[in-house]
Amino acid sequence: MSLLVKGIKRRGKSIGFVPTMGCLHEGHLSLIRRARKENDVVIVSIFVNPIQFGPREDYKRYPRNLTGDIKLVKSSGGNIIFNPTVKSMYPKSFSTSVRVRGLTELLCGISRPGHFEGVTTVCTKLFNIVRPDVAYFGQKDYQQAAIIKRMAEDLNMGFKIKVLPIVREPSGLAMSSRNKYLFNKKRKEASIIYRTLKEAKRLIKSGEKNTARVKECIKDSLLKNPYIKIDYIAVVDPQTLMEQKRIASTVVIAIAVWMGGVRLIDNILVSV
Ligand code: PAF
Repeated sequence: MSLLVKGIKRRGKSIGFVPTMGCLHEGHLSLIRRARKENDVVIVSIFVNPIQFGPREDYKRYPRNLTGDIKLVKSSGGNIIFNPTVKSMYPKSFSTSVRVRGLTELLCGISRPGHFEGVTTVCTKLFNIVRPDVAYFGQKDYQQAAIIKRMAEDLNMGFKIKVLPIVREPSGLAMSSRNKYLFNKKRKEASIIYRTLKEAKRLIKSGEKNTARVKECIKDSLLKNPYIKIDYIAVVDPQTLMEQKRIASTVVIAIAVWMGGVRLIDNILVSV
């Protein structure tokens, strides 16, 4: 990959980079298409990164579909797929880790300790290998994108990071490779998450400033479904991700729930 990247750089071509863990869906494809429009060459990495999964998480059963992914990358305008092995990314001697303080200790960082350190470490490696001009991430993983932006700025990585809107299934469920774990009925029922986010947005837009009340409405709505277990409901500042007691400016409402053993996250930006 390094030689390939060197050649592209030597020819003065720009590189758009879409890092993924494969099992691609419309959310990823929207990033690839945007990268295609904005760059000379589009590199897509497909790597299920073991160090971002906790010991009781789904690393082994995480959906993989390399043959299908290759077709989708090509048809959406990707030029190069980087699909390294675990051994090549983490040889026995591997001893380095990249940690962003603060932002990683909130929201998903609480129930997934070590997750974001795994993400920032692998992304640093991928960025160093691919040397992108622009890297593309989805807003569905809002916290991940905020952490990566922080890291890129703190470490003077020198390329742009673009965060593109959430792509949803027709039901409203945010697209995710993990939606594959949800069988038909649950998949339909999971649309309650987005419906609830939209209701909460309406409530804020109609003048509700009290975060506790907004969160109470979200909780009541979600718990109407007996299969949902709430991990967190948060109303946070879009940059610092700190909880807002009163809603005085733009906020992100972020939700993480368990549904039938599957962890689902979603969020919505609300400007006031
Ligand atoms: O969002 C993902 O798919 C992963 O966290 C990423 C950014 C590819 C790192 O493994």
